Amino acid sequence: MINAVTYGRSDTAMLGFVNTISSEDIALVVDFVRREFMQNKARNTTYHTVENGWPDHQQYALAFPFALEEIALDTPSEQLGAQQRTGRRIFMQSCVTCHDRGRVNDEGVIWDPRPVSYPRNQYSHRQTEAAASPDSISSASPYARHEQAPVLQNPTMQEKEGEALFQKNCAFCHAPDGTGKNWIGSFLEPHPRNLTDPENMREMTAERLRQVIRDGLPGTTMSAWKGVLDAGQITAVIAYINQAFHPLASAPDGVTAD
Ligand code: HEC
Ligand code: HEC
Repeated sequence: MINAVTYGRSDTAMLGFVNTISSEDIALVVDFVRREFMQNKARNTTYHTVENGWPDHQQYALAFPFALEEIALDTPSEQLGAQQRTGRRIFMQSCVTCHDRGRVNDEGVIWDPRPVSYPRNQYSHRQTEAAASPDSISSASPYARHEQAPVLQNPTMQEKEGEALFQKNCAFCHAPDGTGKNWIGSFLEPHPRNLTDPENMREMTAERLRQVIRDGLPGTTMSAWKGVLDAGQITAVIAYINQAFHPLASAPDGVTAD
């Protein structure tokens, strides 16, 4: 670690600090990282915090053994106690989206033919950068057409910024076309909101959007983005949703014309 901090790692964003901080300070910061993050596993490195939109994560305790891969997901139900069965149900409904590397005993087929399922064999529903064409499952599936982002006519700089941010952060659940009818979105419960549906969007104001994106919706997989996106970036995402998916009920604040 001292070597990495001192000289950096080539071909990565990790630069060397040899000319910036003394070797004593490098040793101190490495000690700190090892003690706080690796040995003590300090709270400030955990994800499920109030700030990230998980006010009472302990309520999901029954699902922890599945998230932590302590119990295999395909353990026969009769070998699980009632609480473990409940934990597995919670996990499959609310956690598997992100914790998609659960442990299974039998790799078997890629997934069960049920609407609620989980990927196996390190399967990814997304097109990997290395692969030239969509993987065989998404391209052959009804989800594929929701993997296309709408083409914007003369987008402003802000809408373009919002598009990049949305496609990077939100499309995973809400689908590139905003419908939430992509593979992940289709089995999340509750479903990610369809941002193109007039029924859903009729009363969607820019203020409501801003608040939801900033603070998340507790109890759902819609987490708080305020630690990831700053106010200007959230405005850009709002401008993009307004332009690409459905016009908002009230004019978005801070949206620029070009
Ligand atoms: C929006 C994505 C997301 C969802 C949904 C999610 N998690 Fe996590 N979870 C994470 C991330 C990110 C980490 C940190 C991973 C790491 O440190 O390797 C994490 C870590 C954990 C940990 C390790 C200890 C900790 O608190 O950091 C447990 C246990 C856990 N999650 C349980 C759950 C359960 C149970 C659910 C469903 C109720 C759930 N998670 C849903 C993203 C998510
Ligand atoms: C891990 C999955 C996930 C990600 C990533 C995600 N969302 Fe959501 N989102 C959801 C779910 C699930 C709901 C629906 C919750 C409900 O119906 O109670 C939701 C709801 C919403 C709503 C509707 C709120 C309302 O009050 O009707 C908006 C708007 C929204 N998300 C925008 C975004 C934006 C913008 C991003 C990216 C910055 C994002 N979401 C990222 C899962 C996600």
